[in-house]
Amino acid sequence: MKLRTPLYVINVKTYEESTCRNASHIAKECESAALSKKASVVVCLEATDLRLSYKLKIPVFAQHVDAIEYGAHTGFTLPESVYCAGAKGTLLNHSEHKISLEVLKKSIERAKKVRLIVIACAANPAEAAIIAKLKPDFIAVEPPELIGGEVSVAEAKPDVISKTVKSAGKIPVLCGAGIKTKEDVKVALRLGAKGVLVASHIVKAMNPKKALESIIV
Ligand code: G3P
Repeated sequence: MKLRTPLYVINVKTYEESTCRNASHIAKECESAALSKKASVVVCLEATDLRLSYKLKIPVFAQHVDAIEYGAHTGFTLPESVYCAGAKGTLLNHSEHKISLEVLKKSIERAKKVRLIVIACAANPAEAAIIAKLKPDFIAVEPPELIGGEVSVAEAKPDVISKTVKSAGKIPVLCGAGIKTKEDVKVALRLGAKGVLVASHIVKAMNPKKALESIIV
């Protein structure tokens, strides 16, 4: 499948407000916002919640897959299983789930083999340049120190976005960390990003649908 840009990737992480019995609510809120604003929205769910994808009209991604094959790998997440559960793609190498470059390379290959779209995360433009060579579908740059914070990457480190766009070459770039306003998204797009990754602004909102609608440009 091909994702339209600008792309809004909502990573619900493992917050209490967005997992288990609350996962369906948050995913439905993202879906409503996407439909009302006719926006391209992806929701990244915990592996145990991926089954919800069959009830949603927006693409669901996993937050991670492991670079394993079928076999004896207790506790790992098989790319085939994620695909079978309805996921259309996966995040890899998120700042909260870092993997070595070697494992990332294998994970990208494995994920692509089962037709999962790969968003590979990088902490900075230099890491993005290295990851670009592994040919993920998107690179998402997120300065770790700004994740979950009050100040967004667009406000605090706009140069990280523009430098990543350069260093990623032909790979489309997304950016995240602290994104919470339409202005943040506009700045990101103006600097060449093709979309954003957002978590706390949506997950922690009283009204997640409104929170997502409020940042869609
Ligand atoms: O993957 C997106 C995420 O790390 C950004 O988190 O809470 O700063 O929007 P947040």
